[in-house]
Order: sequence, then C-alpha cells, then structure tokens
Amino acid sequence: MKNLKNSKLFSISILCLLQIIIKANAQLSPSYRKLHSAVLVEKKLYIFGGFNSPNLTPENEVNYNKNPDDRFFYLDVSISFDTSNLPWRSVSNNVDNLPLGSLSSVATGGVAASIGGVNNDMIFFFNNERDNATKSDPPVHSYNSPNNVWNTQIFSGNNPIGRNQMRIVTDYNGKVYLLTGFDFTIQGVTRSSGLFVCDTINPDCVIKDASPFSRLGYGATLLPNGMIIYMGGGDRNYVPIRDGFRLIYLYDPANVEWIPKVTTGKKLPDDVGFTTVLGLNGDRIILYGGNNNNDDNNLYVLNITNYEWFVPKVRGKGPQYKRGEHCANVIGKYMVITFGSNGVLDAKYKEDGESDVLLLDISDDSEYVWTTSFDPTPLKNNSTPSNSLSLKPATNNISIIVGLTIGLILFICILSGIIIFYIRYKNSNKAIPTPGNVVKDGDIITIPSDYELSHGKYRI
Ligand SMILES: *[C@@H]1O[C@H](CO)[C@@H](O)[C@H](O)[C@H]1NC(C)=O
Ligand SMILES: *[C@@H]1O[C@H](CO)[C@@H](O)[C@H](O)[C@H]1NC(C)=O
Ligand SMILES: *[C@@H]1O[C@H](CO)[C@@H](O)[C@H](O)[C@H]1NC(C)=O
Repeated sequence: MKNLKNSKLFSISILCLLQIIIKANAQLSPSYRKLHSAVLVEKKLYIFGGFNSPNLTPENEVNYNKNPDDRFFYLDVSISFDTSNLPWRSVSNNVDNLPLGSLSSVATGGVAASIGGVNNDMIFFFNNERDNATKSDPPVHSYNSPNNVWNTQIFSGNNPIGRNQMRIVTDYNGKVYLLTGFDFTIQGVTRSSGLFVCDTINPDCVIKDASPFSRLGYGATLLPNGMIIYMGGGDRNYVPIRDGFRLIYLYDPANVEWIPKVTTGKKLPDDVGFTTVLGLNGDRIILYGGNNNNDDNNLYVLNITNYEWFVPKVRGKGPQYKRGEHCANVIGKYMVITFGSNGVLDAKYKEDGESDVLLLDISDDSEYVWTTSFDPTPLKNNSTPSNSLSLKPATNNISIIVGLTIGLILFICILSGIIIFYIRYKNSNKAIPTPGNVVKDGDIITIPSDYELSHGKYRI
C-alpha cells in the first residue's frame, strides 16, 4: 500500500518536472504548407496561412483555424541556427488576438500580405472579394509587430483585392503593388486585370490598368530605381504563360508605364509558382524553383543590365526536389526559402526529411552556396561580403537567462516534490484510502497545484 502511494506521488513529481521541461523547450513545429505569406519585419520572418491538403475544403479550413499558432508564427532570424532545428516561435497572445474570422479563408483564395506603415514594421493583409464571411469586414487588416497589435485599416479610393496567388511588393515609400490575374468586380465594374497601388502610410488605394501583364503565380521584383520587374506566371487557370521569361515587363510607378523587355541568354521553361529576389548588389534577379518539374535546374539569374539569363555557379548540397508555391525573402546574405510543394500537391521534401527552410548564401555573386547554417551577422556595408568566421555572435544573453530560469524552476520543482513526498510519507500511516479519491490516469495531465495536492484531488 505504502509503495503504491509513494510511487504515485513520485510520478506526480516526475510529471511536474517533465511538463516544465516540455513547456520551457516548447519549439513550434509548424505543418508544411504552400501558397502562404512570408513577411520579414526586422528580425522576425512572419509566416501566415497556406494549406497542405489536396482538397481545399471549408472543413479543412475549420481544422486549420483550430490551431492559430500554426496559422501565424515566425522564424527568429536574430540568432544563429541550423535548418535541422529551426527557431520557429509563436506570437504572444496569438490565440486571443489573431482575427482568423476576419481574414479571407484559403478555400476562397486567401489573402496577400506585405510589409508597410510609417515605420515599415507593420504587415498588411489584403482580403479577397469572394469570401462571404469576410465581405462585411474592412478589406485590409494590419498587424503591428513591435506592439503585437491587430487593427482594421480603412483605405480611401478603390477597395483592394488580395489572393495568395498574387506576388505583392512594397516599394521604398510604403506603397504596395497588387497585380491581379483574374476576373473581379469592384464598385460595380467587372474587370479582368488591374494593378492595385495602395499607400500604407496615407491609407488610399487606386486601381491602375495592367493590361499587358495580367497573371497569377508570377515573379515580381522591386529594383533599386523603384521600378518593378514582372515575369513568368500563369493565366487565370494557372496555366503557364508561353515565353513568360522571354518577354518580361517593367512597371514604372512614377510614369504609370509598362515597359516590355525581351530577354536573351538561357531559355527558361515556362513556369508558375517560382520566386524571384533582387541580388545583393541590385544588378540581377535570382529565380528559384517553380511548379514545372520537367526542369532539373532550380536556379536562374537575370542580369538586369543587359537582360540576359544565365545559370549561376552554385555549390553545397541543394534541395533534392524542386519546390513551388514557396516564399523567398532576402535576409542578411541569404535567400531564405520557406515551405512550398514538390509538384502541385506533393511534399516529397518533407517525407524525405528535408528542412522546411532552405538557405542560399548569395553574398558572393561568382558562386552561390546552399547551406544549412544561418548566421545573423549583418552584412557589411561596403563591398567585401561579411565572412561568417569573422563575427560569430557570442553566446546570447537570452539563452543564459532562459537557462538560469529553467534551472531555478526545476530546482524549486524538485525541492517541492521532495518535501511533498516526505510529508506524504510521514502522514501515510494515518491516511485511510477511499475509492473516490483514487487518481485516475487521465487526471495526471495537468500540474497539480499545492492546494490540490493537499486538499484531496490527488489524495491517495
Ligand atoms: C457567397 O455569396 C454569393 C453571392 O451572394 C453566392 O452566390 C455564393 O454561393 C456564396 N458562397 C458561399 C460559399 O456561401
Ligand atoms: C551584366 O551585363 C553587363 C552589361 O553587358 C556586363 O558588364 C556584366 O558583366 C554582366 N554581368 C554578369 C554577371 O554577367
Ligand atoms: C553605406 O554605404 C553608403 C554608400 O556607399 C553610404 O552612403 C552610407 O553612409 C553607408 N552606411 C553605413 C552605415 O556605413
């Protein structure tokens, strides 16, 4: 009898310890996804939405929304990490704050999200117009990263439309560009193309003609001179546009002008769902991935001085499978690729144990490097690409504080375990067990409070 009692108390103490250890080390492990949004705000790469099931139904959506921390979270890019152990973090109070019901569901086309605001530290979420549930909401919602606050945003002018198949660009003046490639009706007028230009600082939207370039799943890259290069992509049925990389378009916001450019060099297969980023010197566009799996090559570069395509020199162990419907952000010296699928529905990379995040070191234009380790050291301003050996960040203070805190909690936990154990042991001869007070297996899930321990719930 005494042994049973003691062992139960012992297991409660052990569970207490385990729970604290698990809680302290809680690493988010998000499910894989495609057609999500990835927005870098300072040292946080926020991920929103996306989906991973072959059949996108409202029921799936309901299931996704049961887990807000898997809908909106971030990668901590302030620290070093290896892609085998990613520092995913949940947003504090996310379960209470994330307005999932006011953001268009992926089943209706999702949202488009990009950075903006006076301090360039807010994320703007543009709803689609088809989601009946969000139609009565303002079409734009914002998340203020430093203050962890969600807000609705009223824009004057045209109501913008976002979808997850649009590549959204924010320029150097806080203006957001949303290029459509589908039919839609705004303010009573049905259109089959258009470019929404929305000012996130003085909230206002206008729709511009985009007739030469109406697409989905295209590449959109902001150039240092403020122009945007659009290329590739598919029609409204997501069928790749023929020669979409041969004939590309520059959009000049200052003159509201579309400028066609015929490229030369390497011929790229037509594709949708790839990503493009500006090289660190601002003189080239780096293209990764896509949905077209008939092409073994993953990376192409467009020289934007002479508009010539070429295959860059690359070393390191690259991804085994080509990814599409992923996101790409430039963070420090890396092109950071998040999630995506292999082929339209598959996630072979995941089954193969490949990371959700791919890192391409693009600091040396003569040779890019696939790597698994992320170094947060900021790039040096002038020329010489920062050498990862030079400034390894010292063990970070936060981890020391976290470590000490965990240690202290563990110590208190062990100590109270021993004390409780000792008291129980001393009292054990007097206690008369009653059937109603037996601990059931299911009861041991939560950490018992001292009150519960001493007032019967766990009394044996
Ligand atoms: C949304 O509203 C439109 C027009 O009122 C209707 O045709 C459509 O069936 C609705 N969709 C859903 C999913 O309820
Ligand atoms: C890009 O084109 C310019 C102009 O022709 C040329 O000077 C430069 O070397 C090219 N860059 C690369 C990487 O090919
Ligand atoms: C970075 O370089 C630019 C131009 O070379 C210069 O104007 C700027 O002051 C530099 N910034 C820093 C922080 O050194």
